[in-house]
Amino acid sequence: MSGVLKIEPLAGELSGLEADIGLVYKFHREDGFAGPVGAPIASRLAEIVRVDRFEGGGGRRLLWHAPPGDGLRCRRYLVVGLGNRRDLGLDAFRRYLGDALIEADRLGATSVALPLLDAARAPLAAREAALALAEAVLLGTYRFDRYRSEPRPGRRHLREVRLAIGAAAPRDVETGLAHGEVTASATNFARDLVNEAPGVLTPEKMAEIARETAAEAKLTIQVLGPDEMRRLGMGGILGVGQGSHHPPRLIHLSYKPEEPAARKVAILGKGITFDSGGLSLKTSEGMETMKCDMAGAAAVLAAMRAISELDAPVEVVGMMGMAENMPGGGALRPGDVLRIMNGKTVEVRNTDAEGRLVLADVISYASTQPGVQGMVDLATLTGACVVALGPMASGVIGNDQTLVDDLLRAAERAGERMWPLPFYHEYREHILSDVADIKNTGIRWGGALTAALFLSEFVKPGLPWAHIDIAGPAFGDKEYAYIKKGGSGVGVRTLVRYLLDLAH
Ligand code: BES
Ligand code: MN
Ligand code: ZN
Repeated sequence: MSGVLKIEPLAGELSGLEADIGLVYKFHREDGFAGPVGAPIASRLAEIVRVDRFEGGGGRRLLWHAPPGDGLRCRRYLVVGLGNRRDLGLDAFRRYLGDALIEADRLGATSVALPLLDAARAPLAAREAALALAEAVLLGTYRFDRYRSEPRPGRRHLREVRLAIGAAAPRDVETGLAHGEVTASATNFARDLVNEAPGVLTPEKMAEIARETAAEAKLTIQVLGPDEMRRLGMGGILGVGQGSHHPPRLIHLSYKPEEPAARKVAILGKGITFDSGGLSLKTSEGMETMKCDMAGAAAVLAAMRAISELDAPVEVVGMMGMAENMPGGGALRPGDVLRIMNGKTVEVRNTDAEGRLVLADVISYASTQPGVQGMVDLATLTGACVVALGPMASGVIGNDQTLVDDLLRAAERAGERMWPLPFYHEYREHILSDVADIKNTGIRWGGALTAALFLSEFVKPGLPWAHIDIAGPAFGDKEYAYIKKGGSGVGVRTLVRYLLDLAH
């Protein structure tokens, strides 16, 4: 659960702020400290870093205890290395700062004071710096503690962050902070959804949460259950869900800005609340973290909330295909043939390739929505994508280069690692079936590409579409700076950035 952490922008320099720990940034081999630090601290610390030979390499830190009677407002100062000034991007800044805050938390600080890395002295504009700072603070201090009887020792002290904004315009800082708070808390919301136990977060539960979110965030919502799915001919999502005691749901959210918008796009998410593999059962190890198989849906719901809070000037449809993939007497069998909403038939070869069956219906359904000019789906779709790019990066693939490029640029700006995968039509032969139009598995090689080719069969012809395979970064088994273990909330910040940029 995300804790309440307050970020308070304050006029003046760091030397004027009181806190348990003061953070100070140092660029590699540059004299002085970045941002509005103030002479009393700067002169004292200049001596300390010289004696300690602290050069300010990226991610290096130095803790200094101010001697009593020194006249400084913080008892301890943590000098944070930012590396070379010209190499510092927003994401590196987020990582260094996120790590420093975790350290401050571990050191028992309930409050931290730090300077804004302002445009005059650093390569980041005030607004962007404030945004990145808010994200580092809120993402870096995230914890999922819902099921802990006692808080983990040595953590969760930090309550307040005081920001010395120096000469920066307060308005810029406030907008940046507000924006960062929205995207970070949306990301933490997605993390909570992914981290929740799969026996609790069923398709119907997700629909309930989406209803609450819609009511709070001025979104309209419609939830389709099995009866409506049957009426609409959604054989894919029904087939995947038929082995579970928890029936599937298709959640359909809409966001409309107050002023009519020029652009309307759909964002779609794979929402398998638990992927056992079905009758093509996974190994025990293979399903250990398969509660994360709804991370695409979680990102869509969280992004919808965020764009509404940010009053994005673009119309957005958000859809989540929710189902549980379970074995059992009623389960889908290899050999079954399903008819997807757009009329195409699919031979099921492997019930563990279930995400594409669900998304086939979601994409078909989104394709019928009037006025949609493009769509993006997010899915923990293939292990093959993790083999290709490793656990840190998502793969992006689509039928429209402009859309793919826009998404990659948004990801870069948002600080999420995404990398293009090729859309090779030639591989379509791998998914041809002997009994139906197509089948749900290809050959062993290039599995992330054939999965995407499969999805493209359900996109309305001519409509730009892109797919983001988040199987790698959706769920982590180790901490990486401000990205914690467990659900990462990947995709939320990229989607929000993409949608906001669309309007320009
Ligand atoms: N949900 C999995 C993919 C996955 C793997 C997500 C690792 C997160 C981490 C997906 O439903 C799946 O099982 N895919 C199969 C497809 C295969 C049967 C064609 C896979 O990747 O092995
Ligand atoms: Mn699967
Ligand atoms: Zn899956």
